[in-house]
Amino acid sequence: MKKTIVIISVAALLYACGGGETKPADTGGETKAAAATDPDVEKGLALVGQSDCVGCHKVLEPNVGPAHAEVAKKYENTEANINMLADKIMNGGSGNWGTVPMAAHPGISKADAVLMAKYVLSLKDAK
Ligand code: HEC
Repeated sequence: MKKTIVIISVAALLYACGGGETKPADTGGETKAAAATDPDVEKGLALVGQSDCVGCHKVLEPNVGPAHAEVAKKYENTEANINMLADKIMNGGSGNWGTVPMAAHPGISKADAVLMAKYVLSLKDAK
């Protein structure tokens, strides 16, 4: 509960400070951390925006799935974690955040899933 309040206030703060900045329409509300300059992260953001991810994930607030920024805080940005999350994006799964399962994405290639995982882990400092 406390966590929810913190997340909401962070989101409110972001809204208040970030005023006027429009998010690219093609990313379905996903956004990148300001510091993201890695071209893989840019590609990952675009891929996430084109897929169904945004139906279940928001950047800062939990939705059906955990906020992508929370995922980034949970896992260190390492090669091993990028691989692990890429597999999770392709195969789906449950149990790490609750009982709701994440849908499998059989149509996503490993290469694309890796880009998406890099993007998600880049959100560590997203506020
Ligand atoms: C049908 C809803 C749904 C869709 C669509 C969805 N997710 Fe998820 N996602 C979830 C849920 C629920 C979880 C939490 C699963 C768990 O508890 O292990 C999750 C977890 C995750 C995690 C963390 C995995 C872990 O092991 O901690 C990542 C990363 C992720 N999703 C990325 C994506 C990406 C990228 C897409 C688009 C290709 C996507 N999700 C589409 C519901 C969804």
